[in-house]
Amino acid sequence: MEFSLINLFKLVSLITVLLLVSSIVLIFIKRFRKTGTRMLGVIFSVMILGAVYFYFPRHFKRNYLSEAADPVNVSFRRYADSLHFFIGAVGSIADLGDPRFCNNFNSTTPETALKLGSLLKDKKIGEYDFTHADSIVDLALEKHLRVRGHVLVWGKLSDMFKSPDLQAYLDKFPENERDTILWNLIDDHITTVLNHFRGRIGTWEVVNEPLATWGSGEYEKNVFYRYLGKEYIPRSFILAHKTDPELKLFLNEFFLDYHGKRSESFIRLLKELKEKGVPVYGVGIQSHVISADTSFDEFRTFVKKITDLGLVVEITELDARLSIFRAAKDPYKAQGEYYGKMLKACLENPMVRGITFWGFSDAHSWYDDMSIVFPKPNEPYLFDPDMHPKPAFYDLYNVFKNGYK
Ligand code: XIL
Repeated sequence: MEFSLINLFKLVSLITVLLLVSSIVLIFIKRFRKTGTRMLGVIFSVMILGAVYFYFPRHFKRNYLSEAADPVNVSFRRYADSLHFFIGAVGSIADLGDPRFCNNFNSTTPETALKLGSLLKDKKIGEYDFTHADSIVDLALEKHLRVRGHVLVWGKLSDMFKSPDLQAYLDKFPENERDTILWNLIDDHITTVLNHFRGRIGTWEVVNEPLATWGSGEYEKNVFYRYLGKEYIPRSFILAHKTDPELKLFLNEFFLDYHGKRSESFIRLLKELKEKGVPVYGVGIQSHVISADTSFDEFRTFVKKITDLGLVVEITELDARLSIFRAAKDPYKAQGEYYGKMLKACLENPMVRGITFWGFSDAHSWYDDMSIVFPKPNEPYLFDPDMHPKPAFYDLYNVFKNGYK
């Protein structure tokens, strides 16, 4: 087993469960009852202390507030523009109206507006309401931002986050008809959405998260896989390309790290798609940085394996949780340095065409919405909740301005 924080976490969990089970067993054996009870007491105390440590929100000193900030005149967009590099962020309608957004970013990704569940009228399959999506896309275009379409086919959360439960929908039909019904649904969705945004959105993530999050790179056994097998991936790309051959089509994936079996399995998937002539233009690497377990050398090597296949890469959902830098003297500074290194590593490879942050200001983050899984402080973005630019903002600015070589 390779060493990584995730594996360490799994090992600690396994040991805890084993100890718990053995102490419970001991309690039932008269002779060892006392030892068992003591062991159980110790395990619970350690677990409670651990929970307090991880879940008690801590505050780190914001040293950057004492430094002069000029976020309106200090802007990195022009550097990115001149490098033909997309630097973007997820933004709400209010965010897009903020000059700090358009002064710095030249691209945006609607966070949820283009997902299946958000586009359907009252979640009814086949009935679309584009009002909200149109308003966000049109405003972005008015502000001269490129819009990334996120996402056409996403199995992992298909029954969560306001999406329709596709399995429950299919259950209403006879078993032997469900594969055809599901494919017709994908077909109808891809053609309806791409035709609707034709000429406005030129870059689409066709399939998101095809691999299971954990494990060694198995396919996610989502509803599409269950009924259509892994062929749902190439079929979706071929259909999207047929609907609009002008589009740049991406496969998007989440990675905990950039080495090992899962990453290799992803590269194998790409090779298969390329060999079959499937019209994949690029790969989106999400980059939700959940533990600081990523080495930039491994990242570079992994990205090169993708770009050597002739595929473009974009970082599509960058956000490094502040708490993973808790050991640093100044976590805000460390977070900024991390982003600076990431930008450098991307600019070094001419086939890496962009970075998108999964948010604009720390006032709202998807991590905070799930703080039971991602204990605070998360604060992953470039602006703090009061819209002060964080060190991360200036680190990016400096890398863009001073070059990356
Ligand atoms: C998240 C959004 O940020 C949340 O607001 C929503 O409720 C759930 O989805 N990977 C993805 C994104 O591809 O679509 C997810 O976005 C975050 C993980």
